[in-house]
Amino acid sequence: MTGPVDPSSTGAWARLGALAAEFEPDLRGWFEADPGRVERLTFTAADLYVDLSKSLVDDRVLGALLELADEVGLADRRDAMFRGDRINVTEDRAVLHTALRLPADAGPDERPSVDGEDVVAEVHEVLDRVYDFADRVRSGAWTGVTGERIRTVVNIGIGGSDLGPVMAYEALAPYRQDGLECRFISNIDPTDAATTLAGLDPASTLFIVSSKTFGTLETLTNARLCRAWLLDGLSDQDKTEAVARHFVAVSTALDKVAEFGIDTDNAFGFWDWVGGRYSMDSAIGLSLVVAIGPERFAEMLGGFHAMDEHFRRTDLAHNVPALMGLLNVWYTNFLGAGTHAVLPYAQLLHRFPAYLQQLTMESNGKGVRWDGSPVSTDTGEVFWGEPGTNGQHAFYQLIHQGTRLVPADFIAFVNPAYPLQDTVDGHSTDVHQLFLANFLAQTRALAFGKTAEEVRAEGTAEAVVPARVFPGNRPTASIMAPALTPSVLGQLVALYEHITFTQGAVWGIDSFDQWGVELGKQLAQQVAAAVAGDTAAAGEQDASTQQLLGYYWRHRQ
Ligand code: F6P
Repeated sequence: MTGPVDPSSTGAWARLGALAAEFEPDLRGWFEADPGRVERLTFTAADLYVDLSKSLVDDRVLGALLELADEVGLADRRDAMFRGDRINVTEDRAVLHTALRLPADAGPDERPSVDGEDVVAEVHEVLDRVYDFADRVRSGAWTGVTGERIRTVVNIGIGGSDLGPVMAYEALAPYRQDGLECRFISNIDPTDAATTLAGLDPASTLFIVSSKTFGTLETLTNARLCRAWLLDGLSDQDKTEAVARHFVAVSTALDKVAEFGIDTDNAFGFWDWVGGRYSMDSAIGLSLVVAIGPERFAEMLGGFHAMDEHFRRTDLAHNVPALMGLLNVWYTNFLGAGTHAVLPYAQLLHRFPAYLQQLTMESNGKGVRWDGSPVSTDTGEVFWGEPGTNGQHAFYQLIHQGTRLVPADFIAFVNPAYPLQDTVDGHSTDVHQLFLANFLAQTRALAFGKTAEEVRAEGTAEAVVPARVFPGNRPTASIMAPALTPSVLGQLVALYEHITFTQGAVWGIDSFDQWGVELGKQLAQQVAAAVAGDTAAAGEQDASTQQLLGYYWRHRQ
């Protein structure tokens, strides 16, 4: 494998720099002068309809971004990922989350192997077991130790072993089975376990301990708390078999699962070539499979695969994840954007931005390239967001009129999950249409703004005119789909996985390791003794930490 290309050494980078220096964004003018712009910049990827016409680019910038993609070898790196090359070099691993959604009968040219193993066969072997287990829980065939059917499934996991399942459980709420609820415990703050378990009946509760490594402090601590809670709530006679009937696990470390006392017959594996933040479509999705059923989960995998196919096979000039990733590079490295908002106009996607934060920021928040050399450009931007229209009444002010450039992705669905009508004085309004009107209005306001002349024409007092001007030229992408189905959710997640990949490939970084989370974990172990009262350990801390420990000890009740 040759080393990463320094993007800033390419001709395209120099060209983009020159274009940025003289860039005068003018979405109003561009729309007026170029009737073909919208059609040219609107793309279809699987079921997603993606309008990039309100992006801050002209044809010259777009051309230079595509040249940049060529010069850094984006397509080669993409192909290397799909092939199963060990592109996660700092952990010496293949990166094959795309294999998690390959159909069982995928042809030989699509079927990657790792160390000679047919990974697709392994994926489907585990999926079949996951589906079978979920079916047994859903039908009531799998019971708790007292013979009661399972009413609540509690997923214990954090990061990639939590955010994806929670996000999808919320997003696909209309597809859940009645009478079967999932809850999620992630935080080591004991409040999380205490409040999540409150009101549950141990006899009808099943725990899924989800941890790729099965070594994560938070997850193992919470798993022990839950085990104690379970045993505490059952009679002595039922305690013996309780863990076997009420605890299952998802992990790549089945030996550690056994050590914890979980029957490995009830453990579902995955592989080190699946990153935690890329794992919601592996067995880590078990809670979701129980909630929505194998058929719907398989539809979601089909959606992921459809977007994989688009990314893998579409030329870069029409390749939606590649284009969106390249636009993000333009905004980040040439127009000075430090953040990127993702604004779903779908309450069901309320955890999508949180999910994306791990996906994007754990992947691309890096300061060295994959060969260890320092990056010469800015890398990952801060992703954030909230569902519309709530965000409109909170932070949109800054996006519309603030001094910072905040590129934003707007996501909306034609058909609502819950079609409700609002009736006032006998006149009925489709509430989803009102919702969509907001989605459309916001991207329009951000792109085209409102001039001083337009403000004055409304009779506004001169002194207030400047405050009421909207500068416009705030870039947005509009993503629409017919409805938020399991397949469309899979497509959306895969879209952002590949956007993230594209940006990482341009910057030459390893988007699949996460060494930056390690130091804090190590120090927490070290400080734990000091918090527990070990004065020698406390003495080894820095002055600030010692002072904070002092405050803790003075105020502890
Ligand atoms: O600390 C970060 C991290 O390693 C994430 O990458 C991962 O998703 C999370 O912790 C949980 O890890 P595990 O699934 O091994 O418990």
